[in-house]
Amino acid sequence: MFNQRTKIKVLLQSDHIGQDITVMGWVRSFRNNQFIALNDGSTNNNLQIVVNLGLLDDATLKRITTGASLKVKGQVAASLGKGQAIELIAAAVEILGDSDAEKFALQPKKHSLEFLREIAHLRFRTNTFGAIFRIRHSLAFAIHQFFNEKGFVYLHTPIVTASDAEGAGEMFRVTTLPMDGSAPKNEDGSINYKEDFFGKATNLTVSGQLEGELGAMAFSEIYTFGPTFRAENSNTTRHLAEFWMIEPEMAFHDIEDNMNLAEEFIQYLIAYAMKHNADDLVFLDQRLAEEEKLKPQNERSEMGLLEKLRFVTENKFERITYTEAIDILLNSPAYKKKKFKYNVSWGIDMQSEHERYLVEKHFKKPVIVTNYPAAIKAFYMRLNDGCEPGKETVAAMDILAPGIGEIVGGSQREERLANLEARMAAFHIPTEEMSWYLDTRRFGTVPHAGFGLGFERMVQFVTGMGNIRDVIPFARTPKNCEF
Ligand code: 4AD
Ligand code: MG
Repeated sequence: MFNQRTKIKVLLQSDHIGQDITVMGWVRSFRNNQFIALNDGSTNNNLQIVVNLGLLDDATLKRITTGASLKVKGQVAASLGKGQAIELIAAAVEILGDSDAEKFALQPKKHSLEFLREIAHLRFRTNTFGAIFRIRHSLAFAIHQFFNEKGFVYLHTPIVTASDAEGAGEMFRVTTLPMDGSAPKNEDGSINYKEDFFGKATNLTVSGQLEGELGAMAFSEIYTFGPTFRAENSNTTRHLAEFWMIEPEMAFHDIEDNMNLAEEFIQYLIAYAMKHNADDLVFLDQRLAEEEKLKPQNERSEMGLLEKLRFVTENKFERITYTEAIDILLNSPAYKKKKFKYNVSWGIDMQSEHERYLVEKHFKKPVIVTNYPAAIKAFYMRLNDGCEPGKETVAAMDILAPGIGEIVGGSQREERLANLEARMAAFHIPTEEMSWYLDTRRFGTVPHAGFGLGFERMVQFVTGMGNIRDVIPFARTPKNCEF
């Protein structure tokens, strides 16, 4: 058997001194023809391998270059050098794969994040991306654990759909029709999708929510966790065209239950990462601190990464209504000094500068904003009772996080058939094609609610990474689909 090895993480965690073991991994650096720093991805900490003089011939020594893969047998010893408690005294070194040091893009030095984005196929082998993607993994696992412990059913909602769950028209078309103009046409010249693969126009899903609601009407509580796609032309540090979303949907929940669950969920995920990824978070905390030092004083964050994460798990989120949020903005020094680029008035869809003012300057903690104007929110949100005419609001809730902005979007759903039909008509959503959705309101409708957590924004929050392209293995953004 080839793979009888000890992972470096295990080796560094427990006492193996005196044992003969085998490790495999990639060379991070090779000093003085004697000390190899080997990494196998199980931890950010490298294993120091000592190659004593005379063990290897010159030709082999030359092949131990950054990026090369090795299988090393040896004995674990207490390290005399500083920086590590143990090291491996090599007895045999086998080079599994050479790496031409002249051509290998990753050198043992600091590379910019922008450069590493261009070589995303190699960046997993850096300390920063090793830490990020181990944390991403942990968070994904914690998500399933959280909902499983609560008895939610994991429902796989479709990737290809014929509906636009958010009604925002930001969909990627899915078709097998030819693109050269020869696709079958209707009399009016439009493309005849009846001839297409699915016999209708289809697209990649923007959200699994509508199908999730169907599940909640049977299982009571479900969640989805999958990729979603949005063809919005937003080239920002917070938007991806392909991102992962977690969408729980709960029968017998109102907006307050929804907020409580979302808050508990976010705190659980952070606590999970702090417990299971302590090393990686310490590394990212230091990385961020160094990055902050390069910024002008007034742009620096008040808290370090670990401090921020601890703070968020230990303190309740602020809860305010949209109307209160607008009042805070209108009374803010930033507004009075005309610091906002976009106007503020009741009815606006808050811009990220407004959201960031609320969380970063005013409250300095995550904020849940509720009861948004009906006109700027999706058709499925529940109309609040007793609204002033012209000032209708819906039972929506967005969670805004420091450094991120909107991290969660959710609502109590409109469970009253007549209201829902009226909302759909107002948004020009064809009710005939959505009769499957309306059936939930026809047969045993119940108050229910749910939300969507943007997975990459959550990973950004936990890792402190400023650009969303750095927390997904291979980012898809406008004009960019490499790898
Ligand atoms: O607010 P959104 O659009 O809500 C929905 O899709 C609802 N169907 C969710 C639900 O109630 N079940 O998106 C939810 C979250 C946002 O708060 C944000 O974190 C993330 O998804 N998100 C994006 N993340 C990365 N790139 C994008 N283009 C994103 N668009 C939304
Ligand atoms: Mg939203």
